Amino acid sequence: MKILYTASEALPYAASGGLADVAGSLPAALVKAGVDCRVVLPLYKTIKQELRDKLKFLKNFTVDVGWRKQYCGVFEGQANGVTYYLLDNEYYFARDGLYGYYDDCERFVFLSRAVMELIGQLDWTPQVINCNDWQTALIPVYYQTVYKFRHGYEDIKTVFTIHNIQYQGRYGMDVLGDILGIPMYHAKILEYDGAVNLMKGAFETADKITTVSPSYAWEILDPWYSHGMDRTLAGKQYKLCGFLNGIDTALYDPEHDKAIAANYTADDLSGKAKCRKALEKELGLASDGDPIIGIITRFVSHKGIDLIKYVFEEMVGMGCKFAILGSGEKMFEDFFKEMAWRRPDRVSVTLGFKPDLAKRIYAGADMFLMPSQSEPCGLAQMISMRYGTLPIVRETGGLRDSVTDAGGENGNGFTFKTYNAHDMLGAVSRAKDYYDRKDDWKKLVSHTMRCDHSWDSSAKLYIGLYKELCGE
Ligand code: GLC
Repeated sequence: MKILYTASEALPYAASGGLADVAGSLPAALVKAGVDCRVVLPLYKTIKQELRDKLKFLKNFTVDVGWRKQYCGVFEGQANGVTYYLLDNEYYFARDGLYGYYDDCERFVFLSRAVMELIGQLDWTPQVINCNDWQTALIPVYYQTVYKFRHGYEDIKTVFTIHNIQYQGRYGMDVLGDILGIPMYHAKILEYDGAVNLMKGAFETADKITTVSPSYAWEILDPWYSHGMDRTLAGKQYKLCGFLNGIDTALYDPEHDKAIAANYTADDLSGKAKCRKALEKELGLASDGDPIIGIITRFVSHKGIDLIKYVFEEMVGMGCKFAILGSGEKMFEDFFKEMAWRRPDRVSVTLGFKPDLAKRIYAGADMFLMPSQSEPCGLAQMISMRYGTLPIVRETGGLRDSVTDAGGENGNGFTFKTYNAHDMLGAVSRAKDYYDRKDDWKKLVSHTMRCDHSWDSSAKLYIGLYKELCGE
């Protein structure tokens, strides 16, 4: 089976969030399961030279962007057994960041049309194109309005995956003809609340809509979660479903990870104790028996940072220590810095994106706090579980689908329901009580480490979906 997987970012080439992890690991899992899955993404300037050096130039062609004709070069790369096509246009992609430019709409119109043109340029026609988030949402729109009538493009199916419904690609109606090159008689496909909405276009035209957890698939039908999209999604439920993401279990592997102080397994946790000691030393935290809570996130309120701020001093008073890594809104950065300044032996904060320190926190902490307002899937809770660090999460989206409260059977973490600081505090306090019962805690850690978060089962669900679409 031939699948073209396309996204605006994918590891190992370019990453700004969880999408890159998924686009870097799901295709590899599909290939492992015997699917011929290839990935397309832009050739950004930020891609490391050592990866660029390994790319091979394939060809170039011209892409229509509204009335413009733009150059597109194609480079081929290999990573984890997967073929990657990187699309080159320096005008659009030779910039310091991935997103946030005045012409993002035009840049990703270019990407989406270039992906469609690429298919006609390769000696390889996919049966299914799986696009992801607003940046590639126009692919099914272009397929339904232009390409399905072209020779060589017959009978391709499209899947649109929502990683976060908040980012929809909304622009003024004037982009429709001038940038998208979509005629007025197709305006209905993209028009939503008086604007062009690229995600809505994908909802209308894709054969299937998937999200990254089963719970998020029904949450987004509720206005509290939908960022305005529930009205259009309500009529699309017949083609909407959710599959829980997996993680790259080779990249996150406490048994072999070189970035952590000592290796360990579910059967022998002695290395985890060493990781914990090393983390306390590295971050200047008190070396006592109290638990360390890890927080690795963007400091924005929808990640639940406002709840953490509200009861932070109570949690410290309860005997919790904190290893915090991330960056975001200045108000939250300043708050954490002040806490670390007041209680350097209890609170450590590191601003920025530091993958190796992140792994040392996953391994060295005892608990991991993730009280998101909404979380389409969330990967950090699964990574922390893999390292035997018990997640404390709000029951939403993928957090709800991957973490079960230790109060019942088969628990692998601590959960709370309502988005409320004191409900979160209750879960932290239960976690702390459990932690103080040393033998029970050890059993819980070992059990949690044995839970399977690999792509194996979800890759099967994707393959089932692709097969269903192709009538196989
Ligand atoms: C987005 C979501 C996150 C999810 C990731 C990968 O970043 O916010 O919850 O894990 O995509 O699908």
